[in-house]
Amino acid sequence: MKETNSKILNNIICGDALIEMQAIEENSIDVVLTDPPYFLDKMDDSWDYKTVLNKKNHYTVKSLPAGMKFDREQGKRFYEWYSKVSVEVFRLLKPGGFFFSFSSPRLYHRMASAVDDAGFEIRDCFIWLYTQNQAKAMSLNHFIDKLAVDEADKENLKQKLDGWKTPQLKSCFEPIVMAQKPTDGTYLQNILAQEVGLLNTNIKIGQEMFPSNVVSINEINEEIDKVFLVSKPTKDEKAEYNTHQTVKPLRLCEYLIKLSTFSKDSVVLDPFVGSGTTAVAAKGLERKYIGIDLNPEYVEIAQKRLGETSDRQSPQIKSKPAQLGLFISPAKKPSFA
Ligand SMILES: C[S@@+](CC[C@H](N)C(=O)[O-])C[C@H]1O[C@@H](n2cnc3c(N)ncnc32)[C@H](O)[C@@H]1O
Repeated sequence: MKETNSKILNNIICGDALIEMQAIEENSIDVVLTDPPYFLDKMDDSWDYKTVLNKKNHYTVKSLPAGMKFDREQGKRFYEWYSKVSVEVFRLLKPGGFFFSFSSPRLYHRMASAVDDAGFEIRDCFIWLYTQNQAKAMSLNHFIDKLAVDEADKENLKQKLDGWKTPQLKSCFEPIVMAQKPTDGTYLQNILAQEVGLLNTNIKIGQEMFPSNVVSINEINEEIDKVFLVSKPTKDEKAEYNTHQTVKPLRLCEYLIKLSTFSKDSVVLDPFVGSGTTAVAAKGLERKYIGIDLNPEYVEIAQKRLGETSDRQSPQIKSKPAQLGLFISPAKKPSFA
């Protein structure tokens, strides 16, 4: 752990991620796992978080609220902003370090391009699969009622357009980009020097299956659960007092952290930590964490959740030699400078 990071290690910082990340040492973080904000809600398409903070229910949403006008500038603004975030994440990750970023089906291309253009190698895309979600498509009946035609014509038109709705499908998956900062030398050289850069295939999914890029956390059916079920959420994992609107499943964050972190010294950063799920997952797995969020209310919730989290190592991690240092002393680690 680099000296300047020790002050913020295992802490949740309240502030703007782009500013707070500057205090983190370069090449010091093993994994960045995050779920960034995408849009303003309340049908607002000016993308400014300070404005959102002044609004009631200022949470950000990942899909368009019903009726929100399509604004192609949103994606471009998101790309510009996420490019800056990705450049900073690239700087502070170790060579071979992983960047997992949740996204939405509508915005994945902007997200992945911003990450790619910052210098990362796009390694894969996880699909978080679920069946329960509210459909947001609207019928046009409300607008037909306002037409200056007689009632019979309105009814006729409604019948003709029965079932035809605005182009929004029921969203049943969330993409998560898996990007990697280029390794320093070969994979072997990199893991020996940095203790990051490979995936732990001892972590199984479903019924002891090889780790997959499709994941679900709710039972769907036997065949799907057999190959894609990570683990069912526990009842209390979110915490009753947690008012955050977009809390990510703890088990999903744990899966990604277990796959990508090698040792107890691994540091997991979430620059948009919200109610702290990434940090709670890292702490439970005896990894180190740093969380950042702009909203003091969420920081408080994250800290409370962390206070209630005890280290709960996964048996798959516990049973393996935890550190490469067990057989190669730091002094003997190869230098690729
Ligand atoms: C989608 S939520 C993350 C939810 C989180 N994964 C959880 O499980 O609770 C995104 C978070 O980013 C925060 N945020 C928005 N703009 C930010 C910024 N510029 N810097 C830091 N945090 C920001 C919001 O307050 C929100 O909590």
